[in-house]
Amino acid sequence: SLPKKVTIKEVGPRDGLQNEKQMIKTEDKIEWINMLSETGLSYIEITSFVNPKWIPQLADAIQVAKSIKRKSDITYAALVPNERGLEGALAANMDEVAVFMSASETHNLKNINKSISDTYPVLKPVIQEGIAAGKSVRGYVSTVFGCPYEGNVSIDSVLAVSDKLFSYGIEELSFGDTIGVANPKQVEVVLTEVLKRFPKERIAMHFHNTRGTALANVLVALNLGITNFDSALGGLGGCPYAPGASGNLATDDLHYMLEGMGIETGLKRKELIHSARFLEEKLGKALPSHTMQTERSK
Ligand code: HMG
Ligand code: MG
Repeated sequence: SLPKKVTIKEVGPRDGLQNEKQMIKTEDKIEWINMLSETGLSYIEITSFVNPKWIPQLADAIQVAKSIKRKSDITYAALVPNERGLEGALAANMDEVAVFMSASETHNLKNINKSISDTYPVLKPVIQEGIAAGKSVRGYVSTVFGCPYEGNVSIDSVLAVSDKLFSYGIEELSFGDTIGVANPKQVEVVLTEVLKRFPKERIAMHFHNTRGTALANVLVALNLGITNFDSALGGLGGCPYAPGASGNLATDDLHYMLEGMGIETGLKRKELIHSARFLEEKLGKALPSHTMQTERSK
């Protein structure tokens, strides 16, 4: 049976903006995140504390994190790749930090400049120190359903990374379809294996919508009891170190489907569209979600 309530984790300010060629001003980001805080979201991933040479779009992480207006009922999170990133995130008083790595060697190397086995000793102390500092720590495993460099990715390699990250103490693991290649049957097969080992409450799904399969994939995950989904307002997003990666599943489209199905999200439609319009104005382009296309044709 379907869950009654789902948590939507907004990753637009991070996953969305990291992949936009057009840089948006720090003050506009801050204003946009403040608007997102008024949409009913309970979780916003606002930035990454990564090397600004790799992701120049998020070079203002500290400033953004320190300047946004925070609401006590919202978890504000950021990506951290290593100890240096964790220090930044702690200095900025993030509520939650997220570590990330890939299930495929080549993407891991291209994205964080290390082999999978060399990544574990980097992430283990980051996770443990984050927890010791009183933060909750989330993990991401990327290329779960396919790698832009290697093609197929085995379930065994996904489970191996998952086992390690959970053993280091992460609270939740988000399974990334980094380049949007997953189909519903594959999601069912992979999640069924994952759910044999880890409780469904600690799993999140992170679909990109490159090939239009994201909502279908969500439906399969919902039927398997998953209640945490990552998405980006307007369908913004992608990983710059994954050629062909395009937008995340759009928060506004996900919200439309869930509300229609009677699944509670806490999000407010009018405010979502309002903040998507603001972003379109600042980016100087139309956002790709179906919701925003429909809005424009009104
Ligand atoms: P590296 O070059 O191997 O790092 O990068 P290093 O440890 O050798 O250090 C080299 C330089 O980077 C030094 O500076 C460090 O100080 C600096 P220099 O001496 O050359 O001036 N440095 C840092 N600066 C700021 N913040 C830091 C930091 N760490 C080192 N935290 C590193 C390794 C991981 C840092 C680099 O590869 C990197 O920043 N990668 C980021 C990649 C990224 O953000 N990708 C996108 C996010 S993942 C994603 O989108 C997928 C996801 O959405 C899920 C899905 O869809 O599947 C999450
Ligand atoms: Mg992503």
